[in-house]
Amino acid sequence: MHTEPEPITVPRLRAMKQEGRPIACLTAYDASFARVLDEAGIDLVLVGDSLGMVVQGRETTLAVTVDDMVYHTRCVARGLRRALLVADLPFASYAQPAQALDNAARLMRAGARVVKLEASANQAEIVRHLGAQGIPVCAHLGLRPQSVHKLGGYRRQGAGEAEAAQMLEDAALLARCGADLLLLECVPPRLAAEIRANVEVPVIGIGAGPDCDGQILVLYDLLGVSLGPVPPFARNFMNAAPDIPGAVSAYVAAVRGRRFPERG
Ligand code: KIV
Repeated sequence: MHTEPEPITVPRLRAMKQEGRPIACLTAYDASFARVLDEAGIDLVLVGDSLGMVVQGRETTLAVTVDDMVYHTRCVARGLRRALLVADLPFASYAQPAQALDNAARLMRAGARVVKLEASANQAEIVRHLGAQGIPVCAHLGLRPQSVHKLGGYRRQGAGEAEAAQMLEDAALLARCGADLLLLECVPPRLAAEIRANVEVPVIGIGAGPDCDGQILVLYDLLGVSLGPVPPFARNFMNAAPDIPGAVSAYVAAVRGRRFPERG
């Protein structure tokens, strides 16, 4: 008898953190890849605004619109049965609480179960406002690509003592304000481990070392088909399997077995 897989929920991810079960996450932008990821056991699929770079061929994510995100979220939602669907609020779409709510609602109606926004303490009230309306939020800290021009490039964040202390404080604040997940991009592994120990919500890392509750990669980096320079923390899993479903399964096994990323 064919049984439908039990869908992953926000509370389920929190339980995985408590049980010490690593959470395997990847980005996707269309229904067919979403189905491949789902069947390989990926727990969380992110419709990232990285689509501006890997799908649209732009140099940054800044031109991605809410309409773009709604379109790709709908496509991915049709491919998923089990994995939790998270969708990005794109650049300048959550500057004010009312604007953030309107745009988050569009993503939720398109099939997202969680919205992600790039955050520091400045976004704490937005996170609180969305949570109060029943919208789960993932707060993305560290390297925030929507702020690339302010940061002066795609560089590691939180390396200095003061910067690390600020990120630790911001992460705790965002969790207190109701963020259901944190995502840390390109931060020192020791800082990621400290943030993870300091909050009860799951912490997903990308370029943040092995001591996170879960790992995420941009799908096209895993497949070795990205247009631009590939970040040093990415790995091409097509070297580990003869086909795409095999490469995604190899990634899931490596994350679950704590073999990716390697302890450095
Ligand atoms: O947009 C995206 O794909 C992301 C990942 C880099 C985590 O935010």
